[in-house]
Amino acid sequence: MVKPLEHYFTNNDNLKSEIKKLSYSWDNYVFSFLSDNGVFSKMKIDYGSLFLLETYLKNKKEDPPHDFLDVGCGYGYIGIVLSKVFNIKGTMIDVNKRAVHLTKRNIDLNKVDCEAFVSDTYENVKNKYDLIITNPPIRAGKKVLLDILRGAINYLNDDGECWFVMRVDHGVKTMIKNLEDVYNCEVIDKSKGFYVVSLKIKKNALTNNI
Ligand SMILES: C[S@@+](CC[C@H](N)C(=O)[O-])C[C@H]1O[C@@H](n2cnc3c(N)ncnc32)[C@H](O)[C@@H]1O
Repeated sequence: MVKPLEHYFTNNDNLKSEIKKLSYSWDNYVFSFLSDNGVFSKMKIDYGSLFLLETYLKNKKEDPPHDFLDVGCGYGYIGIVLSKVFNIKGTMIDVNKRAVHLTKRNIDLNKVDCEAFVSDTYENVKNKYDLIITNPPIRAGKKVLLDILRGAINYLNDDGECWFVMRVDHGVKTMIKNLEDVYNCEVIDKSKGFYVVSLKIKKNALTNNI
C-alpha cells in the first residue's frame, strides 16, 4: 500500500520520538528548544524564522507590542524568544499536536509567560492581539496561507500589525498583491531571497471586513 505523503503539519501519533535540543542566543539571553521528528525544521532553527524574528526585535526595540499571537508556532522558537526579550505575554498556536506539546515544554524550559494550544488557523482563537507573527506553512497551500494572512484582520487590534516571512520563489510578491486590498503592506527587509513583510489594517477594511 502506498503511504500517504506526510508533512510537518500532519498529525501522526505513531511517529517515533527522537528529541533533540537546540540552542539560540539573543543579547544576553540564552534559549533551549526541544525539537522532534514530525515538526518543522527539527535539526536547526530555520533561517526564515530567524530572519523574521531578529528583524522584528531590532525594529520594535523602542516600541514593543503588549501581546502577540504566533501562528504556526512549531516548537515555539519565535514566540518564546519574543516573549522573553520584550517581557510580554504570548499565545502560540499550531495545527500539529506534537508541535504544540513541544512548545508547552519549551515554554516551561525557558520560563516565559506564554500559552500554547492546537488550532487549525484561527478556529480556537478568541482574542485580539497587537501583533500576529508567522512563518506560514507554504506546503499547506494557498488557501491556508490566505486564511492565515487575510484572516489576521479579525484577530488584530485596530492599530495592530501582522508580520510574516516568505521567499520570493514561494510567491511573496503575488501574496503581497493578494493582501493589498485590506492591508498597507511594507517590505521591511530582504535577505537570501526571504522578505519580511508587515501588514497594517487599512481604515476602510475595518468596516468592509473581508
Ligand atoms: C514554516 S513552519 C514554522 C514553524 C515555527 N514557527 C518555526 O519558526 O520554527 C509553519 C508551521 O505552521 C503549522 N501549520 C500548518 N498548517 C497550519 C494550520 N492550518 N493552522 C495552524 N498551523 C498550521 C505547521 O505545523 C508548522 O509548524
